[in-house]
Amino acid sequence: MTVITKWSSDLTTLSRVELLEKIRAQINERRFAHVLRVEEKALELAQDKNVNLEKVSLAALCHDYAKDRPDEEMIARIKAGDYDQEMLKFGSAIWHGDVGAELVSEELGINDAEILNAIRLHTVGASEMSLLEKIIYVADYTEAGRDFPGVEEARQITAVDLDEAVSFATKHTLQHLIETNQKIYPKTLTTYNRWVAKL
Ligand SMILES: [Fe+2]
Ligand SMILES: [Fe+2]
Repeated sequence: MTVITKWSSDLTTLSRVELLEKIRAQINERRFAHVLRVEEKALELAQDKNVNLEKVSLAALCHDYAKDRPDEEMIARIKAGDYDQEMLKFGSAIWHGDVGAELVSEELGINDAEILNAIRLHTVGASEMSLLEKIIYVADYTEAGRDFPGVEEARQITAVDLDEAVSFATKHTLQHLIETNQKIYPKTLTTYNRWVAKL
């Protein structure tokens, strides 16, 4: 299994120990363990694919950086920033992608556009997704600690076809939201229409 112990200096000058400390300080222990498993899964999915493994590692480790930030701070940032203000009607489950990318850039000094986009999109996906974005989206859904009905099927699909895995994750996330009477963020439907719906 690939383990990235060091990143090239144009991506970050932090050592692995330094970066993990900074991330650990932001999120609870359970989530920190999740983040490490997402990295492991993402690197596994990235094998033999034409994608930069260092970026896979950094995007995975940073993807939930903002997830445990207080709502007030997130709301203030959304109001002050160049964000879809519609997000304010939703919760942190939606926000932490977009705002997370901003925080990772500001606070960790990671400014690579591909990494930041993968962080940004991991919550709701998009109609156009790069290989890196798909890997993070799907690794987040299928990492080894996930335990929900259908996760084994999701893992099997993920191992074979990333596009199918994006479709599966999007469809099942949406199904869950509908079954539990939750609001649907419109961009989730854009993702659904591209990756799930057939002509
Ligand atoms: Fe997340
Ligand atoms: Fe996550």
